[in-house]
Amino acid sequence: IPRERIRNFCIIAHIDHGKSTLADRLLEYTGTISERKMQEQVMDKMELEKERGITIKAKAVRMIYKAKDGEEYLLNLIDTPGHVDFNYEVSRSLAACEGALLVVDATQGIEAQTLANVYLALEHNLEIIPVINKIDLPSADPDETKREIEDIIGLDAQDAILASAKTGEGIEEILEAVVKRVPAPTGSASLPLRALIFDSLYDAYKGAVAFVRVIDGTIRAKQMIKMMSTGKNFEVAEVGMFNPDMQPVDLLEAGEVGYVAAGIKNVIDTRVGDTITDAEKPAKQPLPGYKKAVPMVFCGIYPAEGEEYEDLKDALGKLRLSDASLFFEPEISAALGFGFRCGFLGLLHMDIIQERLEREYDLNIITTAPSVVFKVIKTDGSIVEIDNPTNFPDPSEIDYIEEPYVRASIMLPTEYVGAIMELCQERRGEMKDMEYINEKRVILRYDMPLSEIIYDFFDQLKSRTRGYASLDYEITGYRKSEMVKLDILINGEIVDALSFIVHKDKAYIRGRQIAERLKDVIPRHLFEIPIQAAIGGKIIARETVKALRKNVLAKCYGGDITRKKKLLEKQKEGKKRMRKIGNVELPQEAFMSVLKMD
Ligand code: GTP
Repeated sequence: IPRERIRNFCIIAHIDHGKSTLADRLLEYTGTISERKMQEQVMDKMELEKERGITIKAKAVRMIYKAKDGEEYLLNLIDTPGHVDFNYEVSRSLAACEGALLVVDATQGIEAQTLANVYLALEHNLEIIPVINKIDLPSADPDETKREIEDIIGLDAQDAILASAKTGEGIEEILEAVVKRVPAPTGSASLPLRALIFDSLYDAYKGAVAFVRVIDGTIRAKQMIKMMSTGKNFEVAEVGMFNPDMQPVDLLEAGEVGYVAAGIKNVIDTRVGDTITDAEKPAKQPLPGYKKAVPMVFCGIYPAEGEEYEDLKDALGKLRLSDASLFFEPEISAALGFGFRCGFLGLLHMDIIQERLEREYDLNIITTAPSVVFKVIKTDGSIVEIDNPTNFPDPSEIDYIEEPYVRASIMLPTEYVGAIMELCQERRGEMKDMEYINEKRVILRYDMPLSEIIYDFFDQLKSRTRGYASLDYEITGYRKSEMVKLDILINGEIVDALSFIVHKDKAYIRGRQIAERLKDVIPRHLFEIPIQAAIGGKIIARETVKALRKNVLAKCYGGDITRKKKLLEKQKEGKKRMRKIGNVELPQEAFMSVLKMD
């Protein structure tokens, strides 16, 4: 199919607005996939994704569509992740396209994440086609949704397509709009190769596979290629397209979307955003916009049982093969023993990895509270980056500290504005601006420390707005902050895995809250256990877990045996996730208790 009849596009949508369902309908309509195969949703492969209702990684699929003008068109649909943690990947997926479907749920309207992605798409000069979805629902309000698209984004929504990904209404109209309104790719097959990597995966047989959009030139098997960010060379083993499964082709040329396999061992060498060029005839300039993925949130991950250390190491290594943005290195905790310090793009990314370790690798793990990366400027002028509170320098060596800040955009119904302003204030937010979308909804913009966002901000936001608020944020840089290290002592011993870094104004409250919470989660022992919070050796809070008076089984004496068994069983169950610190048994929740507020 000639380049004039290629269309590369993606779908921008807020979580649950119907992106996957719509993608399925497009695949069905173009006969790319039979209805029977449709059973397993195609665009969302991972089981975990389905359960969480989120799209984690961008994928691509190729469709042939016979348009009303009688011609056959090749449509490449590139899927984009729908979560703020993966914004960089979204931007690379958009850079691979000429157009975007903006899908908005007619019962919900525009959300913060939709808006963020639309701005990204506009920056890349994409042709945006508004699609108003779920019009089959009685509560759908397409006119209001159109008004929002015009007022908030400033897009002409007159020819927004009314659709239902459920009933199939509007699907043909969408395909026609893609053909008519999305421009064909430009670029030249005769220029030196430049292919943009917008995603990658690890395949047991092919190794690391790069998903690419060829911008200029051609790429085929046996060609020597060079990764422009690292200068590494590889020989191409296979190129192909997504049909939707990987299908080899002879060559990919300017304008096309496909994959490149080159016997690459590790996805670290197929970095999202990197440019692939010809090793013999390299392009002068890489494509713009490449950034190395930087982990923003760190936590310690330890095997609940020491013997599982090797298994955990293995599992992290395997996950890392397919996830170049996952970071880990060995660390040792006095309390938890041998484990790993892991770095993630954000909290959701962290949750996903923890869940995969537990579910796919069947590991029992203990995780410590997440931390951002602080910059400590020492009195001798050196700067250290601290992602683990244990490594926090002695206060006497510290000149000042900087912490990462974000610009947060929160979209919410007007009636919750008061509650959310309060929340943001509690979290050291600085209000920048408040914009009315219409008489019912507003956008609040705040500058806020990232460390405040990772302390269950999102859950609080949801619960204080009954789920109606949406959040988007971007890292804006570092600012000076007065941070201190808070230590927790249990039975007189500092538990390193419970230490964390907090703003000095909040240290007292947080210290008290954590001591109280620990008192609730630590089971009674045969002796009394003091719990203390301290800053630089000064105790700021104290609680006590009282000693156990009677044997647990005592009350069952004479009682029936099954009850006794059950009790013992329960104790064993509880023990599973216990960690012995000195002579105190700490449950897993203890390590997370530093996280929760109220
Ligand atoms: P993420 O993958 O989580 O980003 O969500 P998504 O945007 O892909 O949404 P998804 O396609 O999973 O749809 C979310 C829910 O809305 C599902 O329960 C769908 O069945 C439902 N849904 C999608 N489109 C329509 C529609 O047009 N009408 C109705 N009634 N329901 C729809």
